[in-house]
Order: sequence, then C-alpha cells, then structure tokens
Amino acid sequence: RTVFVFNGPNLSRLGTREPDVYGAETFEDLQALCRRTGRELGLSVDVRQTDDEAELVGWIHEAADGAVPVVLNPAAFTHYSYALRDAIAQRTAPLIEVHISNPAAREEFRHTSVVAAVASGTIAGFGLRSYELALRAIAEEAA
Ligand code: DQA
Repeated sequence: RTVFVFNGPNLSRLGTREPDVYGAETFEDLQALCRRTGRELGLSVDVRQTDDEAELVGWIHEAADGAVPVVLNPAAFTHYSYALRDAIAQRTAPLIEVHISNPAAREEFRHTSVVAAVASGTIAGFGLRSYELALRAIAEEAA
C-alpha cells in the first residue's frame, strides 16, 4: 500500500532554513524518517517537495484519482491557497495536514488554515515527528 507525503514551498531547505523554528534536520533526513516509518508500518512512502502551487495541485489530483492516502505539509500555501483547498476537497482517501512548527503559536497570518476543514485531521508542532504520527494514523485507519 502506497502513501504520498507531499511538501510545499521552502521545505527542501530544512536544516538551513530558520533552524530555530524548523530544526537542524534536512529534507533528506525527513525523507529517510518517512521511509523508515513506512517500512515499519508496511507502507511504501513516496516523499515529494515542490515550490510550485500548480505542481502540488496536480499531485493532489493524482492522489484523488488513485485514492492514495496523503500526508501533506502545505507550508505557506496552508494559509491562502484556495486552489489547493479545492483539490483536497475532491479526494476520498485520508489526508492529514501536518506542520513541523505549531502555527497557532506563531504570527497571526499562520493561525488560518484554508485546508484544515477539508483534511481528515491536523498534526502540528511535533517537529519531524508530526510526519511519523500522521503515517501511524493513516496505517491504523487502513488496518
Ligand atoms: C509550516 C508552517 C507554515 O506556516 C510555514 O509557512 C511553513 C512550514 C510548518 O511545517 O511548520 O513553510 O507548514
């Protein structure tokens, strides 16, 4: 069983990007963590990152067409992308919104998520472990 882990803008720069907020681990570390967790859970995990809204919308369509569960960190798109929100609303398999930081504890503009209402649920504030928790939730839901 395949699970997609999709990451929005600037997340390729983990490790060098605001390490006080997002930690010292790199995007490669995140990929390794997701693959390792997937192996443990019997899931084949496909981890991707894009800075491009159109590409991310296309990947959500791919997930919708294949009914593939998704762990999604929409990054800044979280706060304003109605196109992403409308793409997410089309799918039927679980989709869990994740954040490394806790956006509710940060700037005002991060308090709004335009995707939360169409996600299955949200996990935020646990660092890279947010992804691990989301993969576990998907594995349990699928079991
Ligand atoms: C983020 C939080 C967003 O507000 C921010 O724009 C990001 C990362 C997180 O994982 O904490 O790029 O989604």
